[in-house]
Amino acid sequence: MNYIKQGVLSLCLLASGGAFAADAIGLTIDAAKPGAVINKDIYGQFAEHLGTGIYEGMWVGPKSKIPNTKGWRNDVVGALKAMHVPLVRWPGGCFADEYHWKDGIGPREKRPVKVNTNWGGVAESNAVGTHEFFDLVDLLGADAYVNGNLGTGSAQEMSEWVEYMTSDSQSTLANLRRKNGHEKPFKVAYFAIGNEAWGCGGNMSPDHYSDLYRNVETFLRAPQQYRPKMIASGGNDNDVSWTEVLSKRLKSQTDGISFHYYTIPTGKWDVKGAATGFPEKEWMSTLTSTLRMEDHIVRNSAAMDKNDPEKKLGLFVDEWGTWYDVEKGTNAGFLFQQNTLRDAVVAALNFNIFHAHADRVRMTNIAQMVNVLQSMIITDKDKMVLTPTYHAFEMYVPFQGATSLPLTLSNNPQYTLDGASVPEISASAARGTDGKLYLALVNTNPGQDADVAINVPGQTIKSVKGRVLTAAAMDAHNSFQAPQAIKPAPYSANAVDGKLTVKIPAKAVVVVAVE
Ligand code: AHR
Repeated sequence: MNYIKQGVLSLCLLASGGAFAADAIGLTIDAAKPGAVINKDIYGQFAEHLGTGIYEGMWVGPKSKIPNTKGWRNDVVGALKAMHVPLVRWPGGCFADEYHWKDGIGPREKRPVKVNTNWGGVAESNAVGTHEFFDLVDLLGADAYVNGNLGTGSAQEMSEWVEYMTSDSQSTLANLRRKNGHEKPFKVAYFAIGNEAWGCGGNMSPDHYSDLYRNVETFLRAPQQYRPKMIASGGNDNDVSWTEVLSKRLKSQTDGISFHYYTIPTGKWDVKGAATGFPEKEWMSTLTSTLRMEDHIVRNSAAMDKNDPEKKLGLFVDEWGTWYDVEKGTNAGFLFQQNTLRDAVVAALNFNIFHAHADRVRMTNIAQMVNVLQSMIITDKDKMVLTPTYHAFEMYVPFQGATSLPLTLSNNPQYTLDGASVPEISASAARGTDGKLYLALVNTNPGQDADVAINVPGQTIKSVKGRVLTAAAMDAHNSFQAPQAIKPAPYSANAVDGKLTVKIPAKAVVVVAVE
């Protein structure tokens, strides 16, 4: 189906007094009232030692036949670079609270082999350690987010890791870093003290965690220009108590509080729902579930506002995305799932929510970058495919560092099914760093196109130009047999008599520059 032609058709009908204009959803962008800057780190990624997320998926080692640079696959790194990954969180997740950084430095053949107790009980060779991780972020041109081990580690271990990475002194640890091949300190953008301390990170209460955090943070010393932003590991889902306690008790010692929320179609952890072949009911339940992110952010921000009205602290959603049942025949501990058009829609809906709260939400990390949960890339030996989620991230690149602009939607119907409903159109606008006005639109309805009349007071709009991501099936996905089954297509429309109505196809993500 040619959606560009459809857009033109709607404009013709509009010009000739057709029915589309009267029914159109109204979208007004207030370009004169710039809001918060959308931190590029909102588009951050997460790479945990989990399944084939790092080993095989990205790291093959320097001796591999798969073309690589310093052990990292050239094809995967090239694709990730093309989507402008701004930040990578590593080494976990739950893995972080059992990771001892000294196991991952020095000659690789001498590193201890451990058991990955969280994820499948497989051997962890420690081939990827601190230096390899920084090679990866260097290759990507991304910043580093390192997650410290509070669960089975100590203040001393974390303090020494921060010293090893960031010290420019002649200390033994700084010289060990030099001996291991890195003269200059590494740039650590963020450092988290623990992960999910309420669960896999130690089953703590927020008060107990706060006491430990205060103690550890005291000893994390780094030269001013290399000091990472310190992150306190917060709550998840409906639980705001962590944000309440942490924003009160850690305010002077942290730069932000993390929060985790996963989208699960059935809402049940034992049977989460399938990644492909799902009924429309689960399209709907996935969207209603993911849109709860907005309420979670509002409630956590309100808790932070009480203790930090100046908004010095960030709310860092450092794990989010879809979590389905694992694919049949795969290791249940590897969390491998296919990725479809539904995931791209989920990603775009979350981006629009993050933009709307950019004053507080300054960093997020989708879980996870390759082969795990809602990934950007799926690999099999030397092959790789880009997922629909990859395309959504890549389409939204102009929003990295852009300035959010308020917009209002009127006459926006609900897409309803069996008593559940979500707004049909979700949208976000921003002034890009290149000065252009960008608009993102998501049509949540899998069976109905939507006409949207765009209005920017004080500006005569001539056209919109960009790309659309859609497909015939809700679970359209790329596979090794059909790697290009779903990918973005050009999208444009011109104004007629200074008025612009665009047709947003059913189940689609559209990102355009408004000119
Ligand atoms: O992303 C997978 C896991 O989900 C992470 O390791 C953990 O933090 C969360 O529970």
